[in-house]
Amino acid sequence: LQRYNLDSAGDKMNPFAEQEAWEEHQMGKASLKYGSKNKNQSNDYEYVFEDKIDFIRDSVIDGENLDELHSELPDKSKEKSALEMLQEERKTLPIYPYRDELLQAVNEYQVLVIVGETGSGKTTQIPQYLHEAGYTKQGKIGCTQPRRVAAMSVAARVSQEMGVKLGHEAFINSSEKLWTLKCSEFHLQVGYSIRFEDCTSEKTILKYMTDGMLLREILSEPNLESYSVLMVDEAHERTLSTDILFGLLKDLIKFRSDLKLLISSATLDAEKFSDYFGSAPIFKIPGRRYPVEIHYTKAPEADYIDAAIVTVLQIHVTQSPGDILVFLTGQEEIETADEILKHRTRGLGSKIAELIICPIYANLPTELQAKIFEPTPEGARKVVLATNIAETSLTIDGIKYVIDPGFSKVKSYNPRTGMESLLVHPISKASAMQRAGRSGRTGPGKCFRLYTLHNYHKDMDDNTVPEIQRTNLANVVLILKSLGIDDLVNFDFIDPPPEEALLKALELLFALSALNKLGELTKVGRRMAEFPLDPMLSKMIVASDKDKCSDEIITIAAMLSVGNSIFYRPKDKQVHADNARMNFHLGNVGDHIALLRVYNSWRECNYSTQWCYENYIQVRSMKRARDIRDQLEGLLERVEIEVTSNLNDLDAIKKAITSGFFPHSAKLQKNGSYWTVKHPQRVHIHPSSGLAQVLPRWVVYHELVLTTKEYMRQVTELKPEWLVEIAPHYYQLKDVEDRMPPFSLFVSICVRVFVCAVNIGEFYQQYPRKCR
Ligand code: CDP
Ligand code: MG
Repeated sequence: LQRYNLDSAGDKMNPFAEQEAWEEHQMGKASLKYGSKNKNQSNDYEYVFEDKIDFIRDSVIDGENLDELHSELPDKSKEKSALEMLQEERKTLPIYPYRDELLQAVNEYQVLVIVGETGSGKTTQIPQYLHEAGYTKQGKIGCTQPRRVAAMSVAARVSQEMGVKLGHEAFINSSEKLWTLKCSEFHLQVGYSIRFEDCTSEKTILKYMTDGMLLREILSEPNLESYSVLMVDEAHERTLSTDILFGLLKDLIKFRSDLKLLISSATLDAEKFSDYFGSAPIFKIPGRRYPVEIHYTKAPEADYIDAAIVTVLQIHVTQSPGDILVFLTGQEEIETADEILKHRTRGLGSKIAELIICPIYANLPTELQAKIFEPTPEGARKVVLATNIAETSLTIDGIKYVIDPGFSKVKSYNPRTGMESLLVHPISKASAMQRAGRSGRTGPGKCFRLYTLHNYHKDMDDNTVPEIQRTNLANVVLILKSLGIDDLVNFDFIDPPPEEALLKALELLFALSALNKLGELTKVGRRMAEFPLDPMLSKMIVASDKDKCSDEIITIAAMLSVGNSIFYRPKDKQVHADNARMNFHLGNVGDHIALLRVYNSWRECNYSTQWCYENYIQVRSMKRARDIRDQLEGLLERVEIEVTSNLNDLDAIKKAITSGFFPHSAKLQKNGSYWTVKHPQRVHIHPSSGLAQVLPRWVVYHELVLTTKEYMRQVTELKPEWLVEIAPHYYQLKDVEDRMPPFSLFVSICVRVFVCAVNIGEFYQQYPRKCR
């Protein structure tokens, strides 16, 4: 008989007692009993280890009736068998036979590059193996993902496999809530952290997070002491944050010999990572791949969405059972395809078998994301409409057919103008191979490419260009500067960014007063770096201190961060929806203030859902904005900016917006289009803007989007003199002069006539004879 007395911080002699007890219980080797011994130590736990474990706790929650609590708990016997099944499943993954070899390699080397096909179990299994081998005794295991959806869904999966709750707030109902509360009190956890959503606690031992979040974590914890292992996953995606992490971690491991670094990749370009990390060994996990038949179209497709839909229906009607995965470029395309598919299958009625349509994209609400992993019922077929996320980050079992239109959305950046746009672009051959491979995971598959073989060879690059070479670098430059890395040109990039883009980023940060003339971080810059936002948004917040409107500005920043999903415009009620929207624009206040009014009205109505329905506002987006706003408010305190409201002075609010966004200013032209003030380029106000019909003379915009034209989205009117007042180092009077005032026009004409007369006079004096 072994007894452990645990105070609320755990057993000091054996910090894993809680965990061991719980694991035994989860595996069905021990039962868990609640009791009320140990009355004199009201907050303490007592574990009794035998072949059966008693978990004895004094007064579970402030003296509530224990029997009642017990009956409210979920039925553990059912969970146990599900857990057992998951354990069996884990053993069938391609990585499983290599478990011990892998652990040995991790033990032996500080840096290890791991290569294995998508679905082999890298992301879900390796952190668990490391935990089982005891690495979590020295610190957390962190695993980065380029995409937020992947971080969340993988963390959820791993927490299921380990039989623990996810993070600290996965409440479902009241009894569930109680249960979670208990788990989070005494049990170690799997958590995830993405921007504005931290689902971890001090008990988190496996932490999945976006690469951008780890980058921000380095700001507050430069040596990452709380980690024992870091796994940079999906390294082949080569996102900007992953590339920067490479440089920082390469440096860090020199100082932290106890930190293990794993770089995992789904493609075979591992040599490059290995070379970069001083010839680190490469661990290959042999995949199991079945043959995939690849079909091309005979002629290019004019409308790839339509072609994809037709192909789905053809597969559904003519091909043997197996699910379909369609790659589209974004939420809008996925929603369109979803709608058309539903409409057409409804038309066919019972003539065809059931087709279950599952969309998946970054902004899809979490509860709907889980649907893609649910097994397909007998006789039905699942069709997953996905963005690039399903290329390597997520594995969906049962896919037998892949439809690949050959496009994805990529960010592109013009360092000359500083303009960034999201463009639909042909994918690379490497991506096309990955996509095709998704159909041959569990049996022979088929891939239908909606382009010709000729297109494949002639129009597609071999590999995707790393993000660092095609994006705005202002954000990471600010982070690097905050870390004290000043010599950016000599930073150890795995692939260096174009020098022009680096200079442009420095120039923008200088314009925003985040850097001084010597390129050093200023106080403003230090404050800006605290906010996990684009530098222009952070500047807007920091600048709001001066105009005493930080309360309004963080609301606007939160609403802008939610994206373009605030207003809801159902097809059959467009007029109503537009009228409701225009109510917030009364007085042509501009889109930023309209967003502020939406939020404030919602707040006044006690954050009512009913109010959202009545005003055609998406409640989910509002809740997210509220969440983001709360966090921004906390950060304001950290940078010592007081929360002050100045709602009656709209000019003050607009000025604060301009303080961040002055590089995004534009001036109206005679034909109704606009010219951006610096680096002139023709742009237009987006039709969804409240100012689309008003066309103010001078505007400041949040972002540019390229659809049929280059559009400015989220637009507010500004006074041109603000530009010179706010950014005298960026704008001169001549940039913002509207027209010559009468007097200066007169003077200018006189000067010109005089100069002309002098010239003519001189001409005649000097060359009188020659002229004759
Ligand atoms: O990282 P890698 O692509 O090597 O594989 P993984 O993401 O660890 O996935 C291994 C297996 O876990 C997949 O075959 C899926 O069946 C399963 N999985 C799941 O069911 N749900 C998730 N959210 C993630 C993985
Ligand atoms: Mg993975």
